[in-house]
Amino acid sequence: MEHTELIKPETLEDLIQTLHKIFESDSVNVEEVQNIMESYESKPHEWMKYAKFDQYRYTRNLVNEGNGKFNLMILCWGEGHGSSIHDHTDSHCFLKLLQGQLKETLFDWPDRKLQGGMQQKSQRVLLENQCAYINDSIGLHRVENVSHTETAVSLHLYSPPFQTCQTFDQRTGHHNTVKMTFWSKFGERTPYESTVSQENN
Ligand SMILES: [Fe+2]
Repeated sequence: MEHTELIKPETLEDLIQTLHKIFESDSVNVEEVQNIMESYESKPHEWMKYAKFDQYRYTRNLVNEGNGKFNLMILCWGEGHGSSIHDHTDSHCFLKLLQGQLKETLFDWPDRKLQGGMQQKSQRVLLENQCAYINDSIGLHRVENVSHTETAVSLHLYSPPFQTCQTFDQRTGHHNTVKMTFWSKFGERTPYESTVSQENN
């Protein structure tokens, strides 16, 4: 397997450059990406311009399009904001905490004879600078900022990029296909018309 030299990225710009190099290869080494994302020490002044909050729900803010190989985005979670249970459309999903904490709850895919709702498989709290990983073979998850006093900011890498995912009703296991939108792109607010649909992941 091709080996990319792992040098700790000092800035978000460094990290983005390193990710571009790693994703030139067609095979993704999950552990390598996770390590490199985890080794970047979050400095708020480097990502502040992408961190745009909404009063009512978490926002997705596009940072970099990764030469078509990945989407890198910053999600901003107000107090109590959370996602629905969702899948990742056969993509890799890396989630790194830039500020605050997020609770991740894992679920199995619901089966036909689902009774008593979707059961949670495990739960963990992701701390600042930690980087988690999930894909559809691991399962589904819900991500929440359970704090009543602190916001949270997370950096997400999805490869290959995707525009829709499935959300699940915990009680019935039924799913809906949801189109995902960006609250901002490259630091600029997305025009209103394109942000009306439900946001998820
Ligand atoms: Fe997710």
